[in-house]
Amino acid sequence: MSIHPSIGTIHGVGLGPGAADLMSVRADRLVRAARHVAYFRKAGRAGRARRLVEGMLRADAVEFAMDYPVTTEIPVGPAYNDCLSRFYAACTEHLARLALAGEDVVVLCEGDPFFYGSFMHLHARLLEQVPVSVVPGITGMSGAWTASGVPITWGEDVLTVATATLPEEELTRRVADTDALVVMKIGRHLPKLRRAVQAAGRGDEAWLVEYAAMPEQRVRQLAEVGDDDAVPYFSILLIHGQGRRP
Ligand SMILES: C[S@@+](CC[C@H](N)C(=O)[O-])C[C@H]1O[C@@H](n2cnc3c(N)ncnc32)[C@H](O)[C@@H]1O
Repeated sequence: MSIHPSIGTIHGVGLGPGAADLMSVRADRLVRAARHVAYFRKAGRAGRARRLVEGMLRADAVEFAMDYPVTTEIPVGPAYNDCLSRFYAACTEHLARLALAGEDVVVLCEGDPFFYGSFMHLHARLLEQVPVSVVPGITGMSGAWTASGVPITWGEDVLTVATATLPEEELTRRVADTDALVVMKIGRHLPKLRRAVQAAGRGDEAWLVEYAAMPEQRVRQLAEVGDDDAVPYFSILLIHGQGRRP
């Protein structure tokens, strides 16, 4: 439902960590009713968010796949930022045009749209132009600690969330200076992350969760994972807090 009668709304809809039944009732309702559906994906792939709603879309739904022009092909830097910035601007233009023509659009987002999500780059650009709404979702990290079967924070535990893309020294400092830890975006950074965790003296406490809440879910202690093991994009490292409990 649009806020303005003649302008559509762009809905950033969080789909949760990867199981259709971990989607909110609001997300389910919006996805099933959507005439226009947009989603990011790596070029040549189906896209996790799109796969998650398989069988839920209207027969006449119009899909807009937003293929990332780069993912890990070029290092993060000015050229990478330029390329992505032009890409997000083009996606924004397309979505804004639909909304200005009176169409609502559901943008499918993994986990929660406002948590390290690509949708945030559209949101920032769309806000000035058309109505935008966001539906929160269960995050991947929530799926990960649930998969591990162990609570993440007790009592006054401090939880740090970091990405493995940080420099090694910074990672080490963060790992040492927290009770509980979540590290996202691991991929090829696993050897560096492992060194940081070990340098902080916490190698034995770390777990790696792959594909949390998805059919391929796998939970292992970090010590069981080799540096040469391919770590999938959907991987999270956890250290559980050990805080006060009655
Ligand atoms: C661009 S961020 C998106 C995060 C997402 N918006 C969320 O709320 O979890 C992508 C990273 O999230 C993590 N991730 C998200 N869902 C996951 C899942 N189900 N299992 C493991 N890792 C996941 C991975 O570390 C991945 O590299």
